[in-house]
Amino acid sequence: MKNASQILNENKAWVEETFAKLDKKLRKVAVRAYDVVADGVDENGRFIDRSKTVLWGWTNGFWGGLNALMYEHTKAPEYLECAKTIEKKMDAALREVYDKLHHDVGFQWHILSGALYRITGDKGSRARNLFAASTLAGRFNIDAGFIRAWNGPKDVNRTIIDTLMNLPLLYWASREVKDDRFAQIAMAHADTALCDHLRDDGSVAHIVEHDGENGAVLSTFGGQGIAEGSSWSRGQSWAVYGLTLSYIHTKEQRYLDGAKLAANYFISNCCDDWLPRIDFRAPAEPVYYDSTAAMVTACGLIELAKILPENEGGMYMNAAINLLRANVEAHANFDENVDFVMDNGSVRYPCDGDLKKAGVHIPIIYGDYYFAEALLKLLGSEFLPW
Ligand code: GLY
Repeated sequence: MKNASQILNENKAWVEETFAKLDKKLRKVAVRAYDVVADGVDENGRFIDRSKTVLWGWTNGFWGGLNALMYEHTKAPEYLECAKTIEKKMDAALREVYDKLHHDVGFQWHILSGALYRITGDKGSRARNLFAASTLAGRFNIDAGFIRAWNGPKDVNRTIIDTLMNLPLLYWASREVKDDRFAQIAMAHADTALCDHLRDDGSVAHIVEHDGENGAVLSTFGGQGIAEGSSWSRGQSWAVYGLTLSYIHTKEQRYLDGAKLAANYFISNCCDDWLPRIDFRAPAEPVYYDSTAAMVTACGLIELAKILPENEGGMYMNAAINLLRANVEAHANFDENVDFVMDNGSVRYPCDGDLKKAGVHIPIIYGDYYFAEALLKLLGSEFLPW
């Protein structure tokens, strides 16, 4: 196996050429959709504005965040204009629907306001992100050691693997206000995820129901995968990247070990064609893809390759490049007349066969976000939005 740098060098031309196509297209979309809180597209492939319907939606930060990320690298003003316009528009969520905010406020604000604060120094962005961090910290169950997911009466003692991706918001807040408590909450939750979500074989349970007094596992649920005990590929990607990020922010070896276990499982299970299916334990047919799982995992694998010694990192860099190249070939759309790039994302496994209701094979905004993030990492960007 070649080492990480050799693999990166061999793919440099492809990375540069692919990023150039992405940048060219996104500059146009940034102008056209400069004020759209985007997720999902209409019949013409144009973003739908979620600020009118789901102001609290967990994906609402990705389009603005993608523009902040592209601005950081290119300094093209249309990206900054778009990111700032959407950031302001999302203030309505903080003002008007506080009770509906949830465990995913890091996805919503850390990659948007957190990134804008770090790029521009805007104190308003800092305040928004600290507000989000306090909201997330307030969901911590101090007896049982976890951050609760969702807001329904049944959800009080439930955790989901996805929440790992929100912990960087807390690590950031700790450093920003010099208060260890945010990071302590993040680490307690990451430890619960390691212990209760990550299985011995490296696969993960999406949802865990805990005893609210001592944290013991009462049951697990398949969540967005096919069934209890299954292996939802995007959940796996949240574990790969989320645990890697906890390692980056804390330097605790157990998070790196967990990230590698999850990554090794993903690589061994994602099929020879490098096109992740929605659930690694679903029947081989029918084939349902999820391109978002590939893009999120690629980001985690590239960070692992950077952390690990060159030789060990080679396997992760190789897998990241294979995931990116295969999924771009199969699912990317660089037509400048449509707003999305990555097609064939999937929200969840269609257990009842209803593909439309389950959101199977559709463009999903975070597929584009992590695609851009992965390419920027490969281009050598040191800006870590998480
Ligand atoms: N965080 C929800 C999802 O990955 O679909």
